[in-house]
Amino acid sequence: PLFFVIAVVIVYIYRHFGIRKDAMILLTVISTLLWAAVSADFQLPPLPFEPSATEPVISAQANKFHHDNHHAGYVSNTNKLLEEEGDQKLKSYTLSELVAKVGSGKLGLEESKEQKLRNNGGGAWNHAFWWRVLAPYDSEETKLGQISDDLAEAIEDEWGSVDEMIDEMKTKANKLFGSGWAWLIIKEDGLAIVTTPNQDNPLMSLVPDEKQGVPIFGIDVWEHAFYLTYGPMKPKFTEDFWHVVDWDQVSKNYQAAKKGNIEDLIGKEFDEYK
Ligand SMILES: [Fe+2]
Repeated sequence: PLFFVIAVVIVYIYRHFGIRKDAMILLTVISTLLWAAVSADFQLPPLPFEPSATEPVISAQANKFHHDNHHAGYVSNTNKLLEEEGDQKLKSYTLSELVAKVGSGKLGLEESKEQKLRNNGGGAWNHAFWWRVLAPYDSEETKLGQISDDLAEAIEDEWGSVDEMIDEMKTKANKLFGSGWAWLIIKEDGLAIVTTPNQDNPLMSLVPDEKQGVPIFGIDVWEHAFYLTYGPMKPKFTEDFWHVVDWDQVSKNYQAAKKGNIEDLIGKEFDEYK
């Protein structure tokens, strides 16, 4: 709409004041660039499946609230914060870079603003990651056979079997007090399972060293992720959750993380501020 108004004004000026054609072209280019600059932001990724696709583990309503309210809120609050700050350096970072720098002291934000970025930038990243590691209930992607050979080998090295790894993930997710996430991460010396509170993330500089790494899979254990379907029965949710895990995507994440292609974990187009 703003661009349309600018265009109308330019045409008006041209007709009434006789500005030369080349000047008008220049004005149009400048206003287009200005518009692109002021309208840049992080985008909300669409749900990659029908909302009901993960039933009965996650209901259509739970997916809608989770995506359209919670996730959308994190993205829009992150955009608002960057807009209010108006710092071009901050806007030059990808979402992954912003999240990774939380707690590093390199963002130049006052404490309350960094806390906002921690919660909302973290929430934006974590949920963009979340939708991608989910698949329709008992679909082909959820079969354990989808786990790539090298990932299966790395899991077996650490836990002995995929089932043992899943058991540890369930246990840690169940033990996590309050809101947070359980993650499967790559560290320098192999895979590990860690939990983080709220919207913290193993990429963040503020996360304790032993929990830092690159996530390749995660379970959202905020109540908003399971309460509509399971009520207070979190262990039942973490038990059934494996029917909707996209192991093909987790295997792709493993490759991306090993190569250091962090932007591929949530998809390049959603990692960029544009
Ligand atoms: Fe969530």
